[in-house]
Amino acid sequence: MLSHSDQFPAVASGLAGTYLDNAATTQIAASVLARMAAFETAGRANVKRGIYPLAIQATQAFEGARAAVARYLGAGDSNEVVFTSGATAAVNLVAHGFGAGLAAGDEIIVGEGEHHANIVPWQMLRDRAGVVLKVLPVDDRGYPRIDALAGLITERTRLIAVTHASNVTGAVTDVAAICDMARAKGVRVLVDGAQMAAHGAVDVTALGCDFYVVTGHKMFGPTGVGVLWARAEVLDAMAPFMGGGEMIRRVTFEETTYAPPPHRFEAGTPPVTQAIGLGAAADMLLATDWPEVRSREWNLLGGLMDVLDARDRVTVIGPGADDRRLPILSFTVAGAHPHDLCELMGARGVALRGGHHCAQPLMDRFGVEATTRASLALYNTPADVDAFSDALDHALTVLS
Ligand SMILES: Cc1ncc(COP(=O)(O)O)c(C=O)c1O
Repeated sequence: MLSHSDQFPAVASGLAGTYLDNAATTQIAASVLARMAAFETAGRANVKRGIYPLAIQATQAFEGARAAVARYLGAGDSNEVVFTSGATAAVNLVAHGFGAGLAAGDEIIVGEGEHHANIVPWQMLRDRAGVVLKVLPVDDRGYPRIDALAGLITERTRLIAVTHASNVTGAVTDVAAICDMARAKGVRVLVDGAQMAAHGAVDVTALGCDFYVVTGHKMFGPTGVGVLWARAEVLDAMAPFMGGGEMIRRVTFEETTYAPPPHRFEAGTPPVTQAIGLGAAADMLLATDWPEVRSREWNLLGGLMDVLDARDRVTVIGPGADDRRLPILSFTVAGAHPHDLCELMGARGVALRGGHHCAQPLMDRFGVEATTRASLALYNTPADVDAFSDALDHALTVLS
């Protein structure tokens, strides 16, 4: 049996170095590349159109990928899976499609710790439709304050948009608790699963949410593809976002009627190769032994935390080791800018991210402009923690 790192060409070759920037993009799996190459070299045709054998086969491969993603997300029906170009596009689709049914004065609650992808589309909806945005604050460890939610929900609340896991702190939201409260009030819940997706299979049915978005390049798949999952009845009631080919039932110059979901939301030629790759990633994630991976990731996270705890000038932002969290770790170093730290450590082969992580409101909440972030995935090893430790010491010496 291959080890996890053998399944990822850039990791196995060493070319990715000490890759601790998995919250930005994970490395791609060999099985994903193989399935995309097979489609491109032996099965390429447009989908949902042609009736010659190659086109039928391409459509089957594309719809097979949709079914794989549905299994991975725990969706009851693959028609609830819409392919998009990423998580950002999926949230924007909801902001337009679901947002079209909202009236001025309707309210949307957005988490304080969200990625900009789950803030800006709602602000744009506010500006065009007059909906009111309310903010669900986070606590000192970065968790959404579910205790504050009851006070925010009113009879005008239509949607709560929260992340499943923070891309800055790794804090995992108790989505099921939010969905329970929301359902009791007839409020829809959109969950940003972009970070969660690489750390275990998801179960949208158990979570009880209405929308769930993921993005291919953060779950060992290709860039340029993502998914919006939504309950069938919610998708049925939603207006399309983009118009064009293959999303229609009938077009005349007087009127157009639309195809049922998911095709209503997939105007034009979809990212076929990428969707097929995402299907392969979903299959790989479904076949992964998560208890084993989680315990390894957990040990490595503990190792990184020990390294940081042992250094002066370092402050970790977010939950502690015992909390419900992902192996995503943000920290600041007194007197050193994250960009300098990342550059110095990067020159030693350690890939980290420094900046606001597209979560400026969360930076404001913690009173910082930027953090340095180390984020793990299933192929990381204890050697990566050692390399991180050595590179950090080097950087701290230079920046002292
Ligand atoms: C929590 C979260 N949501 C959404 C996104 C947006 O993903 P994409 O840029 O692939 O659309 C990201 C990417 O960093 C993220 O971390």
